[in-house]
Amino acid sequence: MAELGRILFLPGDGIGPEVMEEVRRVIGWLDRRQMGFEVHEDSVGGAAYEKYGTPLADDTLAKALEIGTVMFGAVGAAQYDTLPFHLKPEQGLLRLRKELGLFANLRPAMVFPALAEASTLKTELVEGLDIMILRELTGGVYFGEPRGIEELPDGQKRGIDTQVYTTFEIERIARVGFELARKRGNKVTSVEKANVMHTGILWRETVKRLHEAEYQDVELSHMYADNCAMQLIRAPKQFDVIVTDNLFGDLLSDAAAMATGSLGMLPSAALGAPDADGRRKGMYEPVHGSAPDIAGQGIANPLATLLSFAMMLRYSFDLDEEADRLDAAIGRVLDKGLRTGDIMQPGMTKVSTSEMGTAVLKELDASL
Ligand code: NAI
Ligand code: MG
Repeated sequence: MAELGRILFLPGDGIGPEVMEEVRRVIGWLDRRQMGFEVHEDSVGGAAYEKYGTPLADDTLAKALEIGTVMFGAVGAAQYDTLPFHLKPEQGLLRLRKELGLFANLRPAMVFPALAEASTLKTELVEGLDIMILRELTGGVYFGEPRGIEELPDGQKRGIDTQVYTTFEIERIARVGFELARKRGNKVTSVEKANVMHTGILWRETVKRLHEAEYQDVELSHMYADNCAMQLIRAPKQFDVIVTDNLFGDLLSDAAAMATGSLGMLPSAALGAPDADGRRKGMYEPVHGSAPDIAGQGIANPLATLLSFAMMLRYSFDLDEEADRLDAAIGRVLDKGLRTGDIMQPGMTKVSTSEMGTAVLKELDASL
C-alpha cells in the first residue's frame, strides 16, 4: 500500500502523550481505510532532556527537517523550572519553530454549535463561527533592530523595539492567506495600521499588489487593527481569513480564541516556505500547554490535538475530505453531549480522554 506521507510525532510532557495517543488511533483508523502514514516518534521538551540531556536533540531536529511534517503535543513541567534557560523544555519548541522556518501561524477560532453557549459572547454571535487568524511569526516588532534598553545621560532609561517588515516577508504571509482562503470561504481581510505606521502602508500596498497579480478570485478587504479588535467582539462571523503581523496577530488570535470558550478545543498550525516539490514544512499542535495539574489522570481533552491533526490532513497532505470528516465527527460527538471535564456543562455526559477518542472513532465509522 502506498504511504500518503511521513509524520514525526513529538508527544512531549504532561498531557502531551495522552492526547497524542488519540491521534494515533485516528491514524490507525485511516490506515484501515488504506490511507497509511509512516509515523516516526521522538522526544521533545522535558522528556527529551531526560533522554538526551537537551530539550531538542540535533538528531531529532534533523529528523524534523527531513520528514517536514510534525505533530507536536505539549512541553513543560515544574521540575525543569530551575534548569538554565537553554535547557528549559520550551526552548525545544522555539528551536523547532525557528529551524523549520515556520513563519506562518494558523490559529482557527471555531465554535461548534453544541459549545456556543460556553462562549463569553452571545450564542447567536458565535454559533457556527469558523474563522482563521493568520499571524506572521518570525518578523516584526519582536525581532526588529534596533532593540534593547539603553541608559540616557540624564540617568533615565529608554526601551526600544522596532517594527520591521520587508516586501518579501509581507508577500509570503499574504500568499499563505490567499491560499488558505481558496480552501475556505474565499475571503481575506488584511489587518494593519496603515493610518499611523509605515510598515502598515507597505503591508497594504504589498498585499494589494499580490492580490491584483495572482489572487483576483479571492475577495480582499483591508482593516485597521483596532477596528478589527472591535469587529471580532461585535460580529466575528463577518471574517473568513484574517492575515496580519506578529504583534497584532498575537493579540487578535487570543481575543478570537476566547470567543470559543475552552483551551482544550483550540488547534493551531505553523507553516514554512514551500520546498522544491511545492510542499511546505508544517508543525501542528494544540494551543494549550502540558496541563501538569491534570496530567497522568486520563482526563485531558484530546479534541484540540485531534483538530490540529485535521489541519495537518488539510494543509500538509491535501486530504480535505478526510479533514472535514474528522471535524464533523468531533462536532457530532459534542452534539451527543459527550464532554471532558474542561468543557463539562450541566446535563452532559462526562468522559475520559480515551472515551472521547473512542466516540470520535465511532462517528468516523458512522460517516462512511
Ligand atoms: P496549560 O495550557 O497547560 O493549562 C492551563 C489550564 O487549562 C490548566 O488548568 C489545564 O488543566 C487546562 N487545560 C489545558 N489543556 C487542557 C486540555 N487539553 N484538557 C483539559 N484541560 C486543559 O497552561 P499553563 O498551566 O500555563 O502551563 C503549563 C505548562 O505548559 C508550563 O510548563 C508551560 O510553560 C507549558 N506550556 C506549553 C505550551 C506548548 O507546549 N505549546 C503552551 C503553553 C504552556
Ligand atoms: Mg499570545
